[in-house]
Amino acid sequence: MDDAILPCTIQRKALEMIVQDEPVPSVLAMILATIERNVEGLFCSVLALDEDGVHVRPLVAPSLPEAYSQALDGVAIGRGSGSCGTAMYIKQPVIVSDIAEDPLWLPFRELALSYGLRACWSVPICLTGKPVMGSLAMYYDRVMHPDERAWRTIMDAMNLVALCLERERQNRQLLRAQQHLEQTVEERTRELSVALSHLRNTQQELLNREKMAALGMLVAGVAHELNTPIGNAILSSSFLADCQLRLSTALRDGVLGRTQLSTSLHDAEAALILVQRNLEKAADLIGHFKQMAVDQSSERRRSFDLREVINDNVVTFQATVRGIDLRYEIDVAPGITLDSYPGALGQVLSNLLVNARIHGFTGRERGCLKVQASDAGDHVLIVFSDDGLGMAPEHLAHIFEPYYTTRPDAGGSGLGMSIVYNLMVHILAGRIEVSSQLDQGTRFELLIPKVAPAPSR
Ligand SMILES: Nc1ncnc2c1ncn2[C@@H]1O[C@H](COP(=O)(O)OP(=O)(O)OP(=O)(O)O)[C@@H](O)[C@H]1O
Ligand SMILES: [Mg+2]
Repeated sequence: MDDAILPCTIQRKALEMIVQDEPVPSVLAMILATIERNVEGLFCSVLALDEDGVHVRPLVAPSLPEAYSQALDGVAIGRGSGSCGTAMYIKQPVIVSDIAEDPLWLPFRELALSYGLRACWSVPICLTGKPVMGSLAMYYDRVMHPDERAWRTIMDAMNLVALCLERERQNRQLLRAQQHLEQTVEERTRELSVALSHLRNTQQELLNREKMAALGMLVAGVAHELNTPIGNAILSSSFLADCQLRLSTALRDGVLGRTQLSTSLHDAEAALILVQRNLEKAADLIGHFKQMAVDQSSERRRSFDLREVINDNVVTFQATVRGIDLRYEIDVAPGITLDSYPGALGQVLSNLLVNARIHGFTGRERGCLKVQASDAGDHVLIVFSDDGLGMAPEHLAHIFEPYYTTRPDAGGSGLGMSIVYNLMVHILAGRIEVSSQLDQGTRFELLIPKVAPAPSR
């Protein structure tokens, strides 16, 4: 039989409660109540020392009158501040056998005696090398000199109470760290959202600048391209005006001979052809620019059958092809419906068809053009290929650049594939990829969403 005031089973139970994170006051109350039950006229209490290291807070006192505990709330520790205040201050146990006689109790003597408290033994609570956390007191209702069994009890209990207070201190620290963390996260989130909105503004600004720069480049390009044909047309027309002046002067002076007339007519004809050709070239360029400027709002969006649009474009193209035996292999899965821009898709296809004819098959007598289209979930994949001349890598690398052409002699402006690229990416919201090898032909892969996204402003 365990005759200790604080049996081992209770000590174990207290440790379990601490480990299971039970509220510290409940664990302390259980320990103190057990001690009290074993000794007649004993009242136990635990005071906690504030973090300022000066003021006390009543923590647990299961049997002491509430008013007595409250009276000690906020009292400063010090020599002569009762058993507990002194013990915490000098960091040593303090045994007062008779409160009525001991000078340490002077300030609280009347209070203690009025509640029938006569003796008080107190030990400071601290873990080795750490600051004092509070005190454990045993009050008696009679004069009481230390006895060894009771003293052993207070020392045993002290260790448990120290663990409890340390746990409470850690919990408080944890709570503070958590609050600090939450506050930091909140602050960082606020900072981040401000930074994000800055970033968005900057991005928008950059985008606008980029658009303006692209527009500037386009305008410069347009001016540059138009400069040559219009300049030529002006030159030729002023030459024509000279011819006409010389002719009318000779006619007025009556010196117009047959030779001069025929030379002048010949020169005028040549100049006229030049004017015409250059103006046509300019008109052609302007036509291309107009295509480039096409935007989503002016494009008609509707639901359409892919096979129909591809067939229509191929048939129209076929009607214009002369001087070559072209075979067409069209393999488009039926029933693929797109909600997109059929006009833009038609423009893309007709550029690819015309390019194949001009660049792929020049000088050839026969060739084959393939168009395959298949369902790819929420996209369609169109593969367009020819078995023509193909492209060298150094040409292939520039195919989508505006004004890049290998056939300026044949009137190429080099805008076709750049228009295709723009239509594919900006109108149809898809992707285009090209692969080609000399003498093997050229292959384009177009991936297009079945439902075009809403136009971006
Ligand atoms: N199917 C093809 N086979 C071989 N080369 C091609 C093919 N398609 C395009 N190219 C090459 O890509 C270049 C750029 O094509 P793009 O359509 O942009 O210009 P272009 O046809 O020369 O002129 P434009 O279309 O403005 O009249 C062409 O000059 C040609 O060298
Ligand atoms: Mg072209």
